[in-house]
Amino acid sequence: MSSKGSGKGRPSSETSSPGGSEKPKRTVLVRSCSPSASGPRGPRVAVIGGDGIGPEVVAEALKVVRAATVELDTADFDLGGARYLRDGTILPDEVLNELRSFDAILLGAVGTPDVAPGVIERGLLLKMRFALDQYVNLRPFTAAAKGIDMVVIRENTEGSYAGEGGVLRRGTRHEVATQGSVNTRMGVERCVRYAFALAQRRRRHLTLVHKTNVLTFAGDLWQRTFDEVATEYPGIDTAYCHVDAACIHLVEDPDRFDVIVTDNLFGDILTDLAGAVTGGIGLAASANLNPERTGPSLFEPVHGSAPDIVGTGRANPLAAIRSAAMMLEFLGEADAATRVTQACTAAVGRAGTTVEIGDAVAERV
Ligand code: IPM
Ligand code: MN
Repeated sequence: MSSKGSGKGRPSSETSSPGGSEKPKRTVLVRSCSPSASGPRGPRVAVIGGDGIGPEVVAEALKVVRAATVELDTADFDLGGARYLRDGTILPDEVLNELRSFDAILLGAVGTPDVAPGVIERGLLLKMRFALDQYVNLRPFTAAAKGIDMVVIRENTEGSYAGEGGVLRRGTRHEVATQGSVNTRMGVERCVRYAFALAQRRRRHLTLVHKTNVLTFAGDLWQRTFDEVATEYPGIDTAYCHVDAACIHLVEDPDRFDVIVTDNLFGDILTDLAGAVTGGIGLAASANLNPERTGPSLFEPVHGSAPDIVGTGRANPLAAIRSAAMMLEFLGEADAATRVTQACTAAVGRAGTTVEIGDAVAERV
């Protein structure tokens, strides 16, 4: 099924909303309160609806932003697996350069079962993360009933995602494949620093998650960097967890976590688990941040394109709407961001189609 053929094409059960079958309509531009044709138009946002349910959930996110009366100047980019199958385009450098001129990117989901694994993931998603230096992948998780209010800071440009390695004698009995993990002092330190600064603004607790007992080279670099930066933050309680133990804690004792900082691959896996224990991946939002703002940051739901439920109205738009709220926050619209996030929380568990849930959130903001 799709989850095998494409990294973002996850099973529908994870993203579907409680019911309904209405086909959602697509919104393209958000110009809710243009003062005049020549007046200021608000932040410029590149919108990549992408594949599968991506365009459906992004349309709801833009509808909610408009309801929050934030004006965005949006431009659609037709990118993803479907585009690739149509004309071979993934992310040409001219398009990447065009994206650089935007204030933010809002993405639905990319990936189709008919494209080999890695083509769109590496060629589009990872290319944007790396080239636009979105080195922090910030994923918040809340579940009031379980006392969970945590944020995972995942390093987003290095580790085993860097693409180090290769293959020799492919397809023969003597095939050799290596896939290394790249960890630089600079890359680890800037991510760890971001996590400390965030913990300082929250409950002042930061946990490093790694596997220092086995990955002794990379783990040592992470641990030393973490310990050194910690000396600059005496007010923050620090902890360390091996990634396997962190999985148990996430399920059995999640309220021990405030902020987690971890490497790229551990963060990928841990955030799917965190999504699953906090109401499902259909609620999980993420921000790929370039904190220095030398390029646009990208906001996207954690879930995939779920091609098996496309057009059924069963896609839950809340993760995409929450991702748009994170974008508003990053763009300086803190008040609107809070209203949208609160309206999403109120809509959790609500039955309805993609459009109905989007409408319900839009009415509350
Ligand atoms: C995510 C996704 C991506 C990742 C894939 C699709 C490349 O799983 O955003 O978590 O592994 O980072
Ligand atoms: Mn993932």
